[in-house]
Amino acid sequence: MNPQEQIDQLTDKLNHYNFQYYQNSISEITDFEFDKLLENLKNLENQYPEYKRDDSPTHRVGGTISKEFESVTHNYPMLSLGNTYNAQDLADFDERVRKGLGESEYEYICELKFDGVALSIWYENGVLTRGVTRGDGVRGDDITTNVKTLRTIPLKIATKNMPIRFEVRGEGFMPISTFEALNKEREDIGEQLLANPRNAASGTFKMQDSGVVSKRKMDCYIYQFLSDENVFATHEESLIAMKEMGFNVSQTWKKCKNIDEVLAFINHWDSERHNLPLNTDGIVIKLNSFAQREVLGFTSKSPRWAIAYKYPSEAASTLLESISYQVGRTGNITPVANLKPVLLAGTTVKRASVHNANEIERLDLHIGDYVFVEKGGEIIPKITNVDLEKRKPNLEKVLFPETCPECGTTLVRKEGEANHYCMNENGCPPQIKGKIEHFIQRKALNIENLGTETIDLFYQKGLVKNPADLYDLAYENLLGLDGFKEKSIQNILSGVEKSKQIPFKQVLFGIGIRFVGATVAEKLASYFNNIDALSKATQEELLQVPEIGERIAQSVSEYFQNPQNQEFIARLKAAGLQLEYEKIEIVTEGDSLAGKTFVISGTFQNFERDDLKIKIEANGGKVLSGVSGKLNYLVAGSEAGPSKIEKANKLGVAIISEEEFLAML
Ligand code: IVH
Repeated sequence: MNPQEQIDQLTDKLNHYNFQYYQNSISEITDFEFDKLLENLKNLENQYPEYKRDDSPTHRVGGTISKEFESVTHNYPMLSLGNTYNAQDLADFDERVRKGLGESEYEYICELKFDGVALSIWYENGVLTRGVTRGDGVRGDDITTNVKTLRTIPLKIATKNMPIRFEVRGEGFMPISTFEALNKEREDIGEQLLANPRNAASGTFKMQDSGVVSKRKMDCYIYQFLSDENVFATHEESLIAMKEMGFNVSQTWKKCKNIDEVLAFINHWDSERHNLPLNTDGIVIKLNSFAQREVLGFTSKSPRWAIAYKYPSEAASTLLESISYQVGRTGNITPVANLKPVLLAGTTVKRASVHNANEIERLDLHIGDYVFVEKGGEIIPKITNVDLEKRKPNLEKVLFPETCPECGTTLVRKEGEANHYCMNENGCPPQIKGKIEHFIQRKALNIENLGTETIDLFYQKGLVKNPADLYDLAYENLLGLDGFKEKSIQNILSGVEKSKQIPFKQVLFGIGIRFVGATVAEKLASYFNNIDALSKATQEELLQVPEIGERIAQSVSEYFQNPQNQEFIARLKAAGLQLEYEKIEIVTEGDSLAGKTFVISGTFQNFERDDLKIKIEANGGKVLSGVSGKLNYLVAGSEAGPSKIEKANKLGVAIISEEEFLAML
């Protein structure tokens, strides 16, 4: 088979597996096998970019960095919907429809109102050409590379009977499960939590690195088909056809003959909607016939043929019994309100988040207050305000503690941050245990057979005070501990031993530098190659890494300046952990770059940064992380780091463009 045939075959195969997995929930091959095939395809496409297809599944992996999104004009304006809140409003809407049509025969399609971000996705000759945000309704941002990472959006569809140009619209969203996992991760690395899945989705779709978007498992429900030609007679037909074309059309819609059936739909979903993978804040009622829609037309803002019904936001009033303060792994203090249990949106609520000291101040909370709790788009209910009419005299005002509730250390609040921190990193029990729990998690050192309770016990017994102590554990230490038999001890020790093979990027994530999540750790690991180079990097050098900003750069550099952390790293090194980036086996192409050294900066037309690095090494060159007098070439892409360029100029290092580099091969 020639390369083009190989690429074609792999593309078709992988697209088929993707479709089966995301549309039909069938796994025909394991994730591992899938990734291997995808890697093969990626390699072939790098070698023969001319054969890469528009519908290649490698688009899903992302990796393209967009500096700024292009603003594009919508083919059809993206309008909003009028809102209704009760049965009377709906009856009024129905009346307007009846009068407007001047006939009594019509049907509605009811759908859920998904709470995410509206997306418009354009196709030309069956190929996805653009993904655009709503923007101001007239113009939106072109976020195509991000949209392509959504596995349920077809990159190419069979064009049978389809117009050359058409577009579909839908609601892009972050599934609640992804949102919760993401927030857990953010809490773990000391990041501010995201308010709700909608904000998280909106932020994610606007990210510059589509590789990060790809990892977030975003999704999109499609609810509209648009083209200049009349393809369908009814909305129902279009929904069925779009589903058949492979779009993710939520199968929650229903045809309703009259407003009573609409009300039954509303009632049904009032409770059922809480079982969906995303938040919904109402339903949308749309006239089914496109011909009838045309008769009714639009107002300046919204169609006359559709309306939204909003479910009332669910709130309850209850007694604030006390506030507890939790200490996180990074020493951040989170106030949690303990409430008299109250029923809200089908679940009993006993606790609510209060976020931070500012929030306590804003709400002017007093113990014994009656507070309103709401479960809007948020998962954890929050206190929205205090019922002042019910406030009794002489209640105790809630004051944020000055010292750590766990270890008594005076709390600090860093400039510009809303959170208070306990800085006693190595002496505050929940921080110590939290660090160990962070270290052993699956995405980090993946040490099996160690759970929260075991860590608690080991800590109490003085066996582990820091993750490096895990590597000093011996059989004799554990024998005799309550509930530990030979087998369970062996399991723990072998789990610890196995972790010595975990790749550097995961170790770097596991050591738990504030603001360094799994993705950032991966970027740092591949940029600096090993822990020594990383630990010596100045803030300025750290800022050269794509997507690394001031806050992370400062946190990383401070971390490595701390002697206690240096000692910790030295112990991990001595234990034999992987502290170097695993080199992918590089297939040699030639030796035209033999003996030459390169530094890469900026973004490139033909390569991802890592691919460029591989290309250099495959041709005998060496990639360094910093500019020095010994360096031969600085390969400068667009937006290359100004300080690198300046330094290269000063030291007389040749600065070459991507084209000049290609010419050297
Ligand atoms: S149809 C002319 N259907 O609600 C408007 N919109 O207020 C056509 N939305 O921007 C929109 N679920 O982001 C429609 N099933 C659904 C929807 C839905 C959520 C959002 C959409 C739109 C907003 C309109």
